[in-house]
Amino acid sequence: MKLRSIELALPGAAEAAAFLTDIWGMAPAEVRDGTHYLRGSGGFPYLVALEESPDNHVRSTTFICSAERLEQLKARVSAAGLPAMPVISNDPGGGHGIIVELAEGELLRFLTDAGEVAPIEGEDLPVKLTHVVFNSVDAEVTAHLVEDTLGFRVSDRTRGMVFVRCNDSHHSTAFARAGFASLNHIAFEMVDMDAVMRGIGRLRDHGMVPAWGPGRHGPGANVFAYFIAPFGPVVEFSTAVEKVPEDYRAGTPEDWTWPEGRIDQWGMSDKDFNALREAEERFRHRRDWQPRPLNEEQA
Ligand SMILES: [Fe+2]
Repeated sequence: MKLRSIELALPGAAEAAAFLTDIWGMAPAEVRDGTHYLRGSGGFPYLVALEESPDNHVRSTTFICSAERLEQLKARVSAAGLPAMPVISNDPGGGHGIIVELAEGELLRFLTDAGEVAPIEGEDLPVKLTHVVFNSVDAEVTAHLVEDTLGFRVSDRTRGMVFVRCNDSHHSTAFARAGFASLNHIAFEMVDMDAVMRGIGRLRDHGMVPAWGPGRHGPGANVFAYFIAPFGPVVEFSTAVEKVPEDYRAGTPEDWTWPEGRIDQWGMSDKDFNALREAEERFRHRRDWQPRPLNEEQA
């Protein structure tokens, strides 16, 4: 199972796409039916889709899996009675699968038979998405749901978050104990720490400073720098998230405490909590489809 992409709807999709290509550092993939698709250097045909809409919302977060895994997911999602629907993807790469709504409206799409493209050169391009994090009213409910129904595993719990993996990467998603349901942030994997630092410099050239970072997290041990994108959401340059073994022991909040005054391993960054929180409330989840049995013909 791999995290591939996030599909957002928002006013000003073209301007958002221009920020992501001209400043953030992505490459344009294509514009299809008015939706802007942006890619990184890796083999996924796109990482971010931006569809024009009167308001901000998250349409889906897409994972790629095997046909066998998809069949297991269909059975478990049906048994759990979650709102879901069979889908054929019209996005670059195509593929087919299901879209599922989790406990607080989070929309996860699982595709199989989705095409890849040739990687492209560019040391300042993100390689791929490394995680998409959601805000939750009750992160534990959703964490148990994704373990029991989707076969994901909790890697670590902190006072603020539950980190969840779907392969050997420490986390591909996480659920923040926020008190509301929305998109928390989108993290882009850069080639190395220099690429993260050059990214910070590139944004600085355009008058933007990190809302938090640079720093190195506790759980996952990844390097981070968070920015508030001009089109609303929190976006992160990240690199080198930890790989964990199958039998990784899930840490508890007591395992992940910082000394007084610290909020990351390096201890050199300031965090603008208020600005981040405001940005984290901008993209809510919204389903624009009616649930249908997963054994129906795909539509
Ligand atoms: Fe992150």
